[in-house]
Amino acid sequence: MKKIIESSKKVWIKTFGCQMNYHDTERILSNLSELNYELSKNIEEADLILFNTCAIRDLANSKFYSSLGEVKVLKKRENKSVIVGVGGCVAQIEGNDLIKKYKHLDFAFGTDQIDNINKMVERVQNGDSKFIYDSYDPSQDYSIETKIINKSPQAFVNIIKGCNNFCTYCIVPFSRGREKSRRSSEILSDIKNLIATGVQEVTLLGQNVNAFGKENNERFSDLLLAVNDLIGLKRLRYTTSHPYFISDDLIKAHSTCDKLSDHLHLPVQSGSDSVLKRMGRRYTSSHYLEILEKIREANPRIVITSDIIVGFPNETENEFLETISLLEKARFDSIYSYKFSPRPGTVAEKIVDELLMSEKSKRLQTVQQIQEKIQVEIRSSFVGSKATLLVEGAGRMRGVKKWKGRSSCNRLIHFVPPSENDDFLGKWVDVEVLSATPFSCQGSLIGLTC
Ligand code: SAH
Ligand code: SF4
Ligand code: F3S
Repeated sequence: MKKIIESSKKVWIKTFGCQMNYHDTERILSNLSELNYELSKNIEEADLILFNTCAIRDLANSKFYSSLGEVKVLKKRENKSVIVGVGGCVAQIEGNDLIKKYKHLDFAFGTDQIDNINKMVERVQNGDSKFIYDSYDPSQDYSIETKIINKSPQAFVNIIKGCNNFCTYCIVPFSRGREKSRRSSEILSDIKNLIATGVQEVTLLGQNVNAFGKENNERFSDLLLAVNDLIGLKRLRYTTSHPYFISDDLIKAHSTCDKLSDHLHLPVQSGSDSVLKRMGRRYTSSHYLEILEKIREANPRIVITSDIIVGFPNETENEFLETISLLEKARFDSIYSYKFSPRPGTVAEKIVDELLMSEKSKRLQTVQQIQEKIQVEIRSSFVGSKATLLVEGAGRMRGVKKWKGRSSCNRLIHFVPPSENDDFLGKWVDVEVLSATPFSCQGSLIGLTC
């Protein structure tokens, strides 16, 4: 029998956390492809195991630690030569401890070290291990060309990294460093190159995306206008924005940029002014609601989503009810809601919290129930309307093949193709919305978008 020579190596990677981390994972894989590593879905056959970690809440942390424990068993019993590395926000914050504590861990790397991944892997291949790359160089310009591993009509593009806000509960400024923006000219040529490879929808990314450009005297709204003008681009999104940095010129861009999606994710966190103050958010609930009013005036189709934290230390019943009242006034299309999780090194971690965990859980449940009711109401008015989707993939639901794509307002809609063999991947289609619940939207295909 002819011997098959395997030239490529396998990497298995587990990603936790936000869009930024998933985008970083794509960059890690793209870098590693230069060393001939290809992605494997099977951890047992991996030559390299990586974790891209998230530290935002205790739950994300614990999930990572339990996966790391499983790898210890694997490395010991089955595949002694496998290389194990940890990157991302946990590695940035506690990489040294990780390296010391976990014998099966070869290296750790911080959030600003992704482009050095190949050097690290080669060091381990050459017999070195137990090292960490976690430095930041704040004097360096933020210049980074987007790397894509799989051809796709959608792309994420980093425009700003880090965060200067230091909300009192949040670990991100510690794990991602200070804000640093790319230059508009570089971003524009990056997106033009992406368009040349077939990209049609771009999401501009940042922890605090609308603080973009301050150090270079550039405005986020001007960047949106310039990206909107790029020939070949069909849809533009951005995430995540902070209410404090929503300016009038940005609101105006939502009426002038025809490619800008009908969606804004604008985390409010709480409806109580006293809690917002303790969180260090720098806006009041009425200011937040004013922003929504103005943005809905600029684009009446716009759909708003948000994040809520319940049970911030010593949140009173009244303060909690103010959040409920804000939910009813803001009428979000969906929310991510969380119980406050104390994070090491943050201001809020040090507050002596009298509020019981059982009460926090009850409040979270209440928020979710009220939001679900609002969502049912909002989404029922979506039924019967026409939506344009960029098709992302297919699957089977109770044996029936369905394609799915996101509308401009970021709702995921499924539709049945005329024939099982049709290929809609990456195509733009129009659908009529048949049903829309908080959990799923179904449409019927009208045809390809003209
Ligand atoms: N930069 C974004 C949010 C990034 S983190 C912003 O400022 O809005 C994503 C979400 O995680 C936050 O909006 C917040 O709702 C939640 N979060 C962050 N730290 C948290 C903590 N310590 N406990 C619970 N939720 C937290
Ligand atoms: Fe965290 Fe606040 Fe920065 Fe968002 S703005 S990343 S919540 S510190
Ligand atoms: Fe988590 Fe880091 Fe993102 S803490 S939410 S992966 S920036």
